[in-house]
Amino acid sequence: MMKPIKVGMLGLGTVGTGVVRIVEGHQEDLARQVGTSIEITRVLVKNLDKERNISIDSSKLTDNVDDILNDPEIDVIIEVLGGIDPSKEYLKTALRNGKHIITANKDVVALHGTELMELAEKSKCDMMYEASVAGGIPIIRTLTDGFSSDRITKIMGIVNGTTNYILTKMSQEGAAYGDVLKEAQDLGYAESDPTSDVEGLDAARKMTILAKIGFNVNVELSDLTVKGIAQITKEDIAYGKKLGYEVKLLGIAERKDDSISVSVQPTMIKLNHPLASVGGVYNAVYVYGEAVGETMFYGPGAGEMPTATSIVADLVSVAKNMRLGTNGSKLPPAYRVKKLITDEQIDSKYFLLLNVADKAGVLARITQVFADYEVSLESVFQQPNATNPSAEIIVITHIANKAAMNKVMADFKNLEVVREIRSVYRVEG
Ligand code: NDP
Ligand code: HSE
Repeated sequence: MMKPIKVGMLGLGTVGTGVVRIVEGHQEDLARQVGTSIEITRVLVKNLDKERNISIDSSKLTDNVDDILNDPEIDVIIEVLGGIDPSKEYLKTALRNGKHIITANKDVVALHGTELMELAEKSKCDMMYEASVAGGIPIIRTLTDGFSSDRITKIMGIVNGTTNYILTKMSQEGAAYGDVLKEAQDLGYAESDPTSDVEGLDAARKMTILAKIGFNVNVELSDLTVKGIAQITKEDIAYGKKLGYEVKLLGIAERKDDSISVSVQPTMIKLNHPLASVGGVYNAVYVYGEAVGETMFYGPGAGEMPTATSIVADLVSVAKNMRLGTNGSKLPPAYRVKKLITDEQIDSKYFLLLNVADKAGVLARITQVFADYEVSLESVFQQPNATNPSAEIIVITHIANKAAMNKVMADFKNLEVVREIRSVYRVEG
């Protein structure tokens, strides 16, 4: 019988609490799977006096990380602190000290994953990060193992639970943005600084991780274009619905020949597309493979227990590797040269909401601009503005390239009949 596996945890907040609950609650099943018991022996917290919503032997808590990182008895470190500092240094020290690491920290994985993975390989330790993307959905395993035989061409994901929760409440209940953000924070979905959720950065970090694995390319955060949800209005959501679309914050990673593009932006998704009905804190990742076709993975994208499920699954993998003597993470193979797609190669439909002068000939002037750049239109819808003498025009284009759309937009800025470009969305589905 193997000796018990000893785990040190860094953090006992939303996710850390869930990890303790699962490790303690599923003790017998876990032991049967890994061949020995798993014990959480020490837990790092910031504030030793804080009231916890889990009962834990206070002698296990420490505010001195050395009690964990330098404890030779501890085999595995679970990092659920968040942020880059000091998490990254703690993880590096853990690896140097020969401890396997498991993290839910997408900031660290997206920005410093390669460095950590190299250190893990050198130290013959495992580094696992299933919970860093899409909470309870096992999407990292799916991409690394399930799709290892295929060539992925596109990954589209709703990968931030907080913003999906906010957009769902805005769409279904007409709720105000600020109120719903507060609810998402109270439910433990948001990051400690929720601007990274609402500005799209959290989703961008997750898409960096997925694109890197999916395309075998060393994608970096700086390669992405990122836009968050702050500018989405109730009006956009209402017009979208009227025309058969739902607004979602979508991460899109696509490959064309040998070039790739990764972006995060609010997107209008056709109501009959499976991603349109992903509501609340749920996430979904839609993967297109050359051989398999279209697949979708769906589940809770944040929250205590779903996220903890992914972490403890990583713990089981580490423990099984320990039993077999096969620890030692290998870098995900970034063997393809990175080439980024140009705007001329990015094709998509677009939704535009324009505020225009309400007079004869305006529609003709507008459609002429689209024609000038060979952007053809799928539908045009106009209605008078209730509050001032102008009209609102909503246009949905056929597939157009991004470079042409940028030129259309530049011309609209100089066209006197266009008073304001209110909104522009990419359209999918
Ligand atoms: P919380 O803010 O709820 O918990 C953070 C924990 O870390 C707390 O216990 C805190 O101590 C401790 N901590 C923070 N900084 C320090 C420090 N410098 N020294 C010692 N202890 C520290 O975060 P979450 O549990 O929500 O998130 C943890 C990680 O998991 C993050 O990387 C997050 O992005 C990721 N994640 C979160 C999800 C979620 O749904 N919440 C889902 C998927 C991933 P104390 O309790 O004393 O304040
Ligand atoms: N803040 C993140 C979200 C947590 O809302 O998706 C899960 O990574």
